[in-house]
Amino acid sequence: MRVTEQAHEAVRGAVYAGDIVIDATAGNGHDTLFLARLVGPEGRVIAFDIQEAALAATRVRLAEGKIAEESVLLLRESHAGLDRHVTGPVGAVMFNLGYLPGSDRTCTTTPGETVRALGAAWKALRVEGILSVVCYRGHPGGADETGAVIRFAQSRKADGASLTISGCEELHGGPCLVVLRKHERP
Ligand SMILES: C[S@@+](CC[C@H](N)C(=O)[O-])C[C@H]1O[C@@H](n2cnc3c(N)ncnc32)[C@H](O)[C@@H]1O
Repeated sequence: MRVTEQAHEAVRGAVYAGDIVIDATAGNGHDTLFLARLVGPEGRVIAFDIQEAALAATRVRLAEGKIAEESVLLLRESHAGLDRHVTGPVGAVMFNLGYLPGSDRTCTTTPGETVRALGAAWKALRVEGILSVVCYRGHPGGADETGAVIRFAQSRKADGASLTISGCEELHGGPCLVVLRKHERP
């Protein structure tokens, strides 16, 4: 199973109809559409992307999926500002890092903003909520960013979260998945 499908499976197990959820990197809208279907018309998706082309592609995908416009808030903004829009509690936050497929490969997520956004996302996540991060190591900066994500996840694990890492041990540098689940602090 591809890591993006594994991410969907993890999120599916933690999100309910009517939840508020976040897509931190809307891109071509696959994850936004997945989340909108999962939370249904009573729920809400907040989706971030810094590129208008990504938000346009996401709008088209949502319209094709017959998702009501008011179910999804699309923000042309960095996820580094996530805490200004989301104070919690949310059922899931999905990150799919890197660049917009078929577009400018130099416009990528960056370790500093990603880690800041992960911190805000973790704060907003409810108990038993899921944080999923698909990381790529093939582009410049991708390996450093993946390392930063794994360090963030391991520090949350040390505080009691469940952590699953898949694919990061592969030597070919393909995509890998980091999934954290929040638990009640003892
Ligand atoms: C791999 S794509 C996301 C794929 C998407 N989740 C999907 O399902 O189609 C990565 C996206 O992250 C966006 N991005 C880069 N830096 C960002 C940032 N600081 N905040 C939010 N999005 C960012 C890029 O513009 C790109 O569209």
